[in-house]
Amino acid sequence: MKASVEAPSNIAFVKYWGARDLERAIPNHPSISMSLSVCRSLCTADFRDGDGGADDVWLIEEDGTRRRPDAKFSERACRHLDQLRRLTERRGRFVVGTRNTFPSAAGIASSASGFAALTLAAMRALGREPDGPELSSLARLSGSGSAARSVLGGYVEWPRGATDDECFAFPLAAASHWDLRDVIAVVEAEAKKVPSRDGHRLASSSPHYARRRELVPGRLETVRAAIHDRDLDALGPVIEEEGIELHLIAMSSRPPVYYWRPETLAVLARVRELREEGVSAWSTMDAGANVHVICAAAEEPAVATALASTAGVERVIRDGVGDGPRALASHLL
Ligand code: PMV
Repeated sequence: MKASVEAPSNIAFVKYWGARDLERAIPNHPSISMSLSVCRSLCTADFRDGDGGADDVWLIEEDGTRRRPDAKFSERACRHLDQLRRLTERRGRFVVGTRNTFPSAAGIASSASGFAALTLAAMRALGREPDGPELSSLARLSGSGSAARSVLGGYVEWPRGATDDECFAFPLAAASHWDLRDVIAVVEAEAKKVPSRDGHRLASSSPHYARRRELVPGRLETVRAAIHDRDLDALGPVIEEEGIELHLIAMSSRPPVYYWRPETLAVLARVRELREEGVSAWSTMDAGANVHVICAAAEEPAVATALASTAGVERVIRDGVGDGPRALASHLL
């Protein structure tokens, strides 16, 4: 059976950083994100019943040509497929093709959309239609925590979960509730050198991590209320603090992890200038050098123009809040 889906990437407003169980991505504290509309992963899973061969994973180019992913990605995807197959007690092999609509592993959460899409396509190919909580929990088993949020559209919270069974994301508001935009300044399109998994593992070695855990509950409350009230001026300072703090902790972990490039700082400065010019635009970052700038729909053109002319910005992606996963009209392979 073959199934094809696409799933959104997401940008965290309150970040997931540090885990109680890294393999199963059980976080130290809750996180909140916005699912995206343009940055998405497409995935076809073909499950060949009874075939005992090894699983096959392909990256599919826009023109349909296939290439092998690097060994690490392949291994991770195959491990996840194997877990799903075992959970459903099926025998057979997967042939999987996947494609991102944006640069992979560059702070645009490709693991989030990639593993959300892979989980849903594989489950459908196995003949199962998981409900929201199950799909979120299964996506998290890939080891990518942010994938647990990418199974939903709009604004999403992923709680800490007292037990493994309670650790799944739930919707805070639909995409239609608030038309926020995310203008992404890409200053580094190639894969980052340190995977986010290493950052999570090292987080608690930073002297600032304990303080972060004290601050997160208040920020969660502010972000929930700001989403509810569609209040960008309340949301903005928190997401900016969150972006900086993730990197503060990474840079002060032992050993330290540096994701930023000099161009990252130039973009952060440009966003502060935009605010001085009266534009309500707020930066945030995941584990990478690129900067996400959150603003209202009316400000998006001005923000995109300003970022495109900032030195060191290779490309600007104009994205915004988007819906959850959906079926694709045609298969990738
Ligand atoms: O999805 P993971 O397990 O690779 O973790 C990435 C977490 C961040 O993107 C850095 C922050 C977040 O909450 O999305």
